[in-house]
Amino acid sequence: MEEKLSSVAKTLTPSPIQQLSYLAQRCNAINLAEGFPDFPAPSNIKDAAVSAINSDFNQYRHVQGICEYVACKMEQMQGIDVNPLTDVVICCGQSEAFAATMFAIIDRNDEVILFDPSYETYHTCIRLAGGVPVYVPLDPPYWKLDPDKFIKSFTAKTKAIVLNSPHNPTGKVFTKDELEMIAGACRTWDILAVTDEVYEHITFDLEKHISLAALPKMQKRTIVTSSLSKTFSVTGWRIGWAIAPASIASAIRNIHTKVTDSAPAPFQEAALTALRSPPEYFDSLRRDYESKRDFIVELLAKVGFPMQFKPMGSFFVFAELPESCSLSDVEFVEELIKQAGVVAVPGCGFFHGSSSPSVLSYQSRCIRFAFCKSADTLSVAGKRIADLVKDAGHLKLF
Ligand SMILES: Cc1ncc(COP(=O)(O)O)c(C=O)c1O
Repeated sequence: MEEKLSSVAKTLTPSPIQQLSYLAQRCNAINLAEGFPDFPAPSNIKDAAVSAINSDFNQYRHVQGICEYVACKMEQMQGIDVNPLTDVVICCGQSEAFAATMFAIIDRNDEVILFDPSYETYHTCIRLAGGVPVYVPLDPPYWKLDPDKFIKSFTAKTKAIVLNSPHNPTGKVFTKDELEMIAGACRTWDILAVTDEVYEHITFDLEKHISLAALPKMQKRTIVTSSLSKTFSVTGWRIGWAIAPASIASAIRNIHTKVTDSAPAPFQEAALTALRSPPEYFDSLRRDYESKRDFIVELLAKVGFPMQFKPMGSFFVFAELPESCSLSDVEFVEELIKQAGVVAVPGCGFFHGSSSPSVLSYQSRCIRFAFCKSADTLSVAGKRIADLVKDAGHLKLF
């Protein structure tokens, strides 16, 4: 029956991490692969969810209070005026907000510009909506956006650009200059921007998250997507949102209603408690992740990774293998699972075949480590990795 699948569905293959997860399970490997915390969510938020279930919030639901808080946060953090009645749509996580956005704005053969490497789900959503992903490589090792490569990617068919900052997998936070370059191109070519801001509260070293929507004349052409998932360590609750000009928000809302009807009702109720968290909550989230970032960066540097680029946001390190390592990223992760009992993600799954030779050489040379793990998990993983260091002072695998 495979011939009955849609042409896009036929191209969907398991990511390298799905293929390695069986080996990881067999070796009982510590999971530094997947981007979800292994520590508990804040107890007041969990209590709010339990209380919502006990209060029988069991039916389809739209909790307008979430829109009010989201609008208020955009005002406070980005200085932009969002109408909570018309401009915010509650969805099942950023993932559904992004998919619904693509269905709302993309026609067949519209081109959508993305950066390479990038989070894997954008590509599939764009394809399912009939669009054509066009990749602009970010230049390693600092993952800079090259103006020439960027400008050359626009054509008369370009409909939108996708920006994820802070960035998965690299931990890059796009600079003000880069954001201005992107905003300038959106205005010149009269295209939309779709941002993924799920790591908006996880930035380091005094780096501040700036939404593209906050740049001059960008709010009217930007769809911001984000969620509770990363900020409150509740990736399984599936509460997210899209913020967009009213006519686009209305289309996203219609699609959301037809596809899922509503996000989980008890967790929408709990979102009200989460979004009311005091500034100290966000400060301590940042501080905790910054010290986890420092721990893992130091560990990887000590065992021989070059570590030229230190993540400025998100909870990932995208570490390049040293030249002395003859293994590919997939082979390295296989050996790391077998020899150290630690699993990470081979970087190749985040790349989409940019033609630039400098990037091509990188595509099988990066390993993504997720540090959204408890101090205990990180320290056991650290010890296991450090145990693989041979006399020369670097990993046996290099
Ligand atoms: C960049 C990025 N966007 C979106 C998501 C998924 O967000 P959500 O749980 O809100 O669907 C992830 C999860 O790993 C991510 O890394």
